[in-house]
Amino acid sequence: MRMIRGWYFANDSKTSADPTMPQPPNDTIHPETKTESMRAFLGGRFVVFDGPDGCGKSTQFRRFSDWAHAQGVVVTEVREPGGTDIGEQIRAILLDPRNSVMTVKCEMLLYMASRAQLLEERIRPALERGELVLADRFVSSTLAYQGTAGGITTDDIMRVARIAVGDLWPDEIVIFDVDTETAWKRMAAGRANSAPDRMELKSNEFHDRVRQGYLQQCRDDPARYVAIDARQDPETVFARLIEAFVSRMKAGIGPRVRR
Ligand code: TYD
Repeated sequence: MRMIRGWYFANDSKTSADPTMPQPPNDTIHPETKTESMRAFLGGRFVVFDGPDGCGKSTQFRRFSDWAHAQGVVVTEVREPGGTDIGEQIRAILLDPRNSVMTVKCEMLLYMASRAQLLEERIRPALERGELVLADRFVSSTLAYQGTAGGITTDDIMRVARIAVGDLWPDEIVIFDVDTETAWKRMAAGRANSAPDRMELKSNEFHDRVRQGYLQQCRDDPARYVAIDARQDPETVFARLIEAFVSRMKAGIGPRVRR
């Protein structure tokens, strides 16, 4: 067990909501922020993790999901593009380096098509069951990659997003911010055995614009977006992440999508 700024939690062990597994004792949580409070806060919540390629969000996604699970929260994990049979087929088209002639509008519509399917097949049912939906990328990715970096206007993207997403907008969008140089180093280290995909092959300037796109979204909607400095080591980033959720819980920021 570790403690970060007064917030105790069981570490990455597979302590589970499954009654056959050992449960985290209630005193693993600071008295002010009991497990039940966090469970109630996270249940039925729609949380997106996003950021530029190489920002380390996948590591944090895994840790946060395990941590929420250890609090007794049922977690549905989804990733974009993909997450459904149809979505995975769309993903293969989107990331195939042979598709270099793909226009940015085609790209945007394919990402949205995958999302529309994911929403109805996985996200909406899980929220209706009161689960925490943890999404690896969402509309925020399209706004940064096809919008700020790709040149499609926010208005055009949002018009299509309203069709794909309807009224199911995330409660929190956590942006892991990292400079392009650090991101490239991480990506190069992480793909020792695999070739870069079509998006990763884009220029440094493109990835710089992606980062700026995310930062702009954080400035435009500070109530919904949580920006985390992801240049630091994974332990520190995770600590900041948990702090952000604890402070939102204490502020009583409820889910917007529970129905
Ligand atoms: P993926 O291998 O899932 O990368 P990561 O682990 O970084 O999420 O590839 C997804 C790629 O697709 C990534 O480069 C970001 C890009 N993307 C967009 O350009 N627009 C979108 O709407 C989404 C969801 C992803």
